[in-house]
Amino acid sequence: MRVIVERNPEAVARTAAQFVARLVRRHPTCVLGLATGGTPLGLYRELIRMHREEGLDFSRVVSFNLDEYVGLGPTHPQSYRHFMQQNFFDHINIDVRNTHVPDGRALDFEAYCVQYEKMIEEEGGIELQVLGIGSDGHIAFNEPGSSLGSRTRLKTLTAETVRDNARFFATPEEVPRLAVTMGVGTILESRQCLLLACGQSKARAIRDTIEGPVTAQVTASALQLHRDVVCVIDEEAAQLLARRDYYLEVERLQARLESGQLGTLPPGKQPL
Ligand code: PGA
Repeated sequence: MRVIVERNPEAVARTAAQFVARLVRRHPTCVLGLATGGTPLGLYRELIRMHREEGLDFSRVVSFNLDEYVGLGPTHPQSYRHFMQQNFFDHINIDVRNTHVPDGRALDFEAYCVQYEKMIEEEGGIELQVLGIGSDGHIAFNEPGSSLGSRTRLKTLTAETVRDNARFFATPEEVPRLAVTMGVGTILESRQCLLLACGQSKARAIRDTIEGPVTAQVTASALQLHRDVVCVIDEEAAQLLARRDYYLEVERLQARLESGQLGTLPPGKQPL
């Protein structure tokens, strides 16, 4: 796992955007896995800026979102489809037909979830999956106790998640209790994962994810089993990491490697 500690959320957004933009430039038909929530907002803002000012081209990019609330249609102001349109898709040149957000109003969820997995597979799988993290350590809506091999399915939200997400709704009662979400197993099949976290409220979940045991009680910890994970977190989210100085040292060496000071290494490769 590569751990990049940035000074603040703005720097997290800029660094994360570099990872996404590098892939989109190198592979204009890439398949991105996208996330909603407060954390990736800065990333989307930076990518929109890159699209406008640097011509970053999303016209052939395909995307799959992690999750959607059950019961909310695409035009509902709190639906994740609406979030993606408002905060990202409407401001770049992505073809909306290439964007996928799970359908929160599918008639047959079991069949729909199988179909969502199949759509990902037919596009060749997700190359880069953007992830936030819940204060309970969830990725997507894989709440504590979710099978680490789980696939796209319905999931009941925990009281903690309902409480965390109530800030986006008029009253906590309006927060849906169910979501359709990619599974941990689905996420682990992405070629690369980009986990973002900012703020003190994420410090415990980040410590458990990066330095704790792999456990279904913290589903993000399953990322330890993935071969290519980059965590970009701010100082506040990093404050409980025991090996923080080591991660900083790795990044210092990485920078020297990339600038050619330590001999050659293929671009984008990390020393450890
Ligand atoms: P947040 O949510 O980015 O709004 O903090 C993250 C999550 O629950 O996955």
